[in-house]
Formats: sequence, C-alpha cells, structure tokens
Amino acid sequence: MPDFIESDFTEIERDLAKVYEAIAKTSQQVSRQMSYHVGMTKKLNPFGETQAKLDVFANETFAKALLDTTRVGWVASEELEKPLGGFDQSKDSISVSMDPLDGSSNITTNNPLGSIFGIWRGELPKKGRDLIAAAFVTYGPTLTITLSISGKVNQYVEIREGENSGRFVLAYKEMKIPEKAEVYGFGGTRSDWIPQIEKFVSSLEARGLRLRYGGTFIGDYNQVLQRGGIFSYPAHKGAPDGKLRICYETAAVSYLTELAGGDSSNGYESILDIQPKTLVQRSAFYVGSSLLIRELEAKIGTRIS
Ligand code: F6P
Ligand code: MN
Repeated sequence: MPDFIESDFTEIERDLAKVYEAIAKTSQQVSRQMSYHVGMTKKLNPFGETQAKLDVFANETFAKALLDTTRVGWVASEELEKPLGGFDQSKDSISVSMDPLDGSSNITTNNPLGSIFGIWRGELPKKGRDLIAAAFVTYGPTLTITLSISGKVNQYVEIREGENSGRFVLAYKEMKIPEKAEVYGFGGTRSDWIPQIEKFVSSLEARGLRLRYGGTFIGDYNQVLQRGGIFSYPAHKGAPDGKLRICYETAAVSYLTELAGGDSSNGYESILDIQPKTLVQRSAFYVGSSLLIRELEAKIGTRIS
C-alpha cells in the first residue's frame, strides 16, 4: 500500500498501489480546493448535463494524477467524450473508469460529494465481473477512501492534525454489509417509479426502515454499506434504465458491495454480469443487503444468473 495509507496488507501489487496512491492524494487536493471552484461552466458532459467548475477541476486533476503514475493505459471518465490514453495500451494495461465528482447538484448546498473509480485491465467497456479493484471517496465532514484490497473492503479516514496529519488511517476493516436492514434510499420521482418498486418501497416503510436520500449516490450508499439496507436509482416508467451509469458509477460500487457480502442487481441479474455495449450505458440499479436485493428481484422478475 502507499505508505501514507495505513494497512495491514502487504501483498498488494505495485501498479495498483500507485493507482490508489494517486486517487488518495488527489482526493486531498480536490477536497482542499473545493471552495475555489464555484459555479457552473457553459459546457455539457457526454450525458448532456451542464458541468460545474468543480466537475471539470476534479476530472482534470484525477486524470492527470492517474496518467502521471505511468501505470495506467486509459482513463475513461463520465466527464469526457473519449478515454484519455496513457503510457502503454496493451491488453494487460490498467484502465480506470471514473465519476470524478459524484453528486454535483449538492456542490452549492455543501452536502456530501463523492468520487468513484473502477480499475480494470484492458480496454473498456468491460463487465464489472472483470474489475480487479475499485474505490470511492466521500467528501463529507471527513475525507474517507474506501477500497478493495486482496478481496476485502476497507475504509480509511484522513487525519488532519498532529504528527499523522495527511495520512489515511484504517477506520473500518474488512467491511460487511449488515443483513439487518436499517436504511433505504430510492432516487427519482416516486410517481414515476414502476409499480413493483413503489410497492416494494411501501413494504420497506411498513417494516420501519429509515429513509436516507441526500442526492449523492456515494454519500447515500455509504450509509447502506455501514448500516444495512438498500440504495437504488430504479427503473422509471418510460426510463427502464434509470439514471446511473454502469461503467462510471454502478459497476465499481457493485464490485465493492459483493466483496462486502451484499448484492447488486438491475432487477434481473447482478450488475457485475452486464456486458455494457458502450461506456455511457445506464441500467436500473439496486444495491445493498443480499436478502433485500433477492426479495426485490422476486418482485420484479426472475434472477437470470
Ligand atoms: O450521478 C448522478 C447523481 O448525481 C447521483 O449521485 C445521485 O444519486 C442522483 O444523480 C440524484 O438524482 P435525482 O436528483 O434524480 O434523485
Ligand atoms: Mn455520479
């Protein structure tokens, strides 16, 4: 591991260690610089969304740091039309997909934000099942990085004072999503959800689950990871693929979830088993405690695999 991230694990491979180091250090830079990148640009991202200045800054800063490692063949980003090319592009080169700033609509209101990274080998798009690692950052009251290491999920928190200032120390080791569900959060507009989802959410409410929906996927998901439950951006009437993007957002989080003993689904199969045809492909998305995901699939259809 990079030596500024505390870890008990030593067997991590060198290239991946460099990528994690770049992500962690850049997250500190993005976090410190947030107040200097205020407002919107006039540019649109490939999804037709107006880019905030912070989207552009986070994208450029993460992309540069990743390419500067000289271990990365491609960086694909939600904010870029085409992946950027790195030092060497063979079938074994590392490719990183990213949502450099998740939850942009929360910038002005100072609510949590995030960054999401999928790490593969070879050119994208690929299935989530092919991921070799994944990580996400939360910018909240503290700065945390959650990452996979040797098949386990650990969460680290940045120390801001004292002799360890600037280091990330282990806060949660070998995370497991609790099966006892406490929280739920479903995106979009309730009246537009497909009827099966509306019914399912009503049943969660009847069971006393607490609503947690802040409008930043990573912030809301982190509650599910720690407290058990379900996060979703569901199928909508007229938008069966919901909103979230497989390559940039949901594959990486599904990978971490399944390592943490939870499950992910598009309603029919694991998100990790979807072969995206394009980098911009979306899918309905359900993630969290295994039993809830299975229950939801049974209400929507039948699991394919
Ligand atoms: O990345 C898309 C995103 O900003 C997610 O972080 C978040 O969960 C979702 O969109 C919010 O969308 P809505 O405002 O439609 O609920
Ligand atoms: Mn996002």
